[in-house]
Amino acid sequence: MSTPVEPGRKDGGMSSTPEHWAPQSETYNFVSFASDSAYREANRTLVRRAFAFLPDSFFHVDVATGTGLVPQEVCALCREQGKRGTIIGVDPDRFALENARRSTQPAPGCTVEFVQGTGQDLERLLAGRIPAEGVDYVSIHDAIHEIRGEDIKRSVLAAMGRILKPGGVFTYNSAFTTAALEEAALEWGRLKAKAFALVGGRRDRQVVALKVHTPEEYARMIAEAGLSVVHEAKRVVRISRAAMEAICRYPAFIEGVFGDMIGRERLSLEEKSRALIEAIASLGIVEMPRVWHEILAQKAG
Ligand SMILES: C[S@@+](CC[C@H](N)C(=O)[O-])C[C@H]1O[C@@H](n2cnc3c(N)ncnc32)[C@H](O)[C@@H]1O
Repeated sequence: MSTPVEPGRKDGGMSSTPEHWAPQSETYNFVSFASDSAYREANRTLVRRAFAFLPDSFFHVDVATGTGLVPQEVCALCREQGKRGTIIGVDPDRFALENARRSTQPAPGCTVEFVQGTGQDLERLLAGRIPAEGVDYVSIHDAIHEIRGEDIKRSVLAAMGRILKPGGVFTYNSAFTTAALEEAALEWGRLKAKAFALVGGRRDRQVVALKVHTPEEYARMIAEAGLSVVHEAKRVVRISRAAMEAICRYPAFIEGVFGDMIGRERLSLEEKSRALIEAIASLGIVEMPRVWHEILAQKAG
């Protein structure tokens, strides 16, 4: 299965107009996948590692916060451990942020704010909102692969490194590295082929797919952002049938799967999503393993 279409920027990253954008909506969004227990557990475990480094009254910035999963997990840990903090979630998607605002319950002593914008604009968006000495924690979960272009990925990571104070921590994870399909490459390939067959399209082998990076490449980009890797792992997440159907209602995922299809170019998002969900049923998929690559890194103190 191919990587999702990565929203980019018309001017290479400096304006606020996303290109190749697959916005979320009431019907097509990340809400139900983000509530999947296996997905949440994978994120919770990584957030918990970072949380151990945080002082009381910490400052955290979550880039590509989506529907607010990472701030929600940080608040849950604050409730459990009695720490207080300020959390800012940044994301360009209006629908996702509205959902995040509605569904994130700040823990006692915590403030949570959601700011609309891209990771490329991070420092401008946060000017005057974060302490001059930097923040204690920055995160980008399940999203770096959606940021188009290697240089732009690097610049977002570099900006995250710059806003971090010395000794501060960083977490990243992604299910779109070259390791993602290593537990079930054939099954993911069959799902895509079945969905294409159901709509009467075929794969264009000439299309140069967007680059899928290796875990090592991501580790290198993170190191180049001035961060030292403290923990790195590959985590197998078992995606249930219900979660599979949920991810097939997430626009960036749907558009990514169909990114190299020819023969039926004018297919709507709804038709593509329906084909994927029908393919899951027709292949009798009960569960699919997918590998998340994760890193916890720290800025030199
Ligand atoms: C798969 S969702 C993950 C959301 C959240 N981090 C989570 O794990 O639940 C990816 C998110 O990346 C966001 N995104 C895409 N391009 C972005 C960019 N250039 N800057 C910041 N966020 C971006 C999307 O809007 C989407 O909400």
